[in-house]
Amino acid sequence: MNWEQELSAKAEVINQALDRYLPDADSQPALIHRAMRYSVFAGGKRLRGALALAAAEVLGQPPEPLLPAAAALEMIHTYSLIHDDLPAMDDDDLRRGKPTCHKVFGEAIAILAGDALLTLAFGTLGRLQTAGFAAEPVMRVVVELAAAAGTDGLIGGQVVDLESEGQAIDPDQLAYIHLHKTAFLFRAALRTGGLLADADARDLQALAGYGTSFGLAFQITDDILDLTGDEILLGKPLNSDLANRKATYPSMYGLEQARRLAEAQVNKALHSIACLGDSAAFLIGAARYLLNRQS
Ligand code: IPE
Ligand code: IPE
Ligand code: MG
Ligand code: MG
Ligand code: MG
Repeated sequence: MNWEQELSAKAEVINQALDRYLPDADSQPALIHRAMRYSVFAGGKRLRGALALAAAEVLGQPPEPLLPAAAALEMIHTYSLIHDDLPAMDDDDLRRGKPTCHKVFGEAIAILAGDALLTLAFGTLGRLQTAGFAAEPVMRVVVELAAAAGTDGLIGGQVVDLESEGQAIDPDQLAYIHLHKTAFLFRAALRTGGLLADADARDLQALAGYGTSFGLAFQITDDILDLTGDEILLGKPLNSDLANRKATYPSMYGLEQARRLAEAQVNKALHSIACLGDSAAFLIGAARYLLNRQS
């Protein structure tokens, strides 16, 4: 299997888990359950969930019992996208190749569908104990994901992203935005896999370093694709960042230098996991994919 096929195989089992954990589309109140399912199953690469499973596999832990954690990561991520697209935020009409949640269900239900996915994510982590994990690592995963999603993580990054629209900011502020809104959830995904595989301090640090650099490279390449990508392949509108006068790597450094900075982060990610050896093949493939990704 090449890396893309491995990602699809992981995405498939994560999708099956999401289908089990999400409320049925016709259970009451059906409107919100339909909206949650609409956005979760509109598409999505399932990278965060797949990386959590892969991190555990590197350390010899089979993926199956980790599925609640992988699904929770994807619920948090999908909630963040539903809210990110709202008129009060980036005001985008297309996501994962389909009309955004608020376009189909209205703003109020889109807000609530995001809230419901974030809440369900933490409830779903409770299933880890039923899957056989001890209370202590499960609690550490809860704290990890709460920190990555909260004001010290994704929400904090989104706030500064919004505050910085149309502003002249410096490189440190731009790095703050990208680390917080995007990279820390990737770091949490990698650390989640490590924590549930009983990683030692060295391996946890390797996974965390990889996750942070991967996440930063991921958001830099997202900014580049906003300008240079293919709307059909991306499944979201081009030039959204220009329309919103966002602070991005290409706007601060130009396209060429932004590409070089993404490459430097990919190399840093690979360097972080060099100590894990060949068992980290999926993580190595994921980092390399960033430099050529089209979606
Ligand atoms: C998009 O993330 C949001 C960013 C952090 C740039 P993805 O590109 O992983 O979105 P999906 O899940 O594949 O739709
Ligand atoms: C989003 O950054 C990061 C999130 C935490 C949702 P963007 O606003 O650039 O993501 P896209 O381009 O809309 O997916
Ligand atoms: Mg945004
Ligand atoms: Mg956006
Ligand atoms: Mg973007």
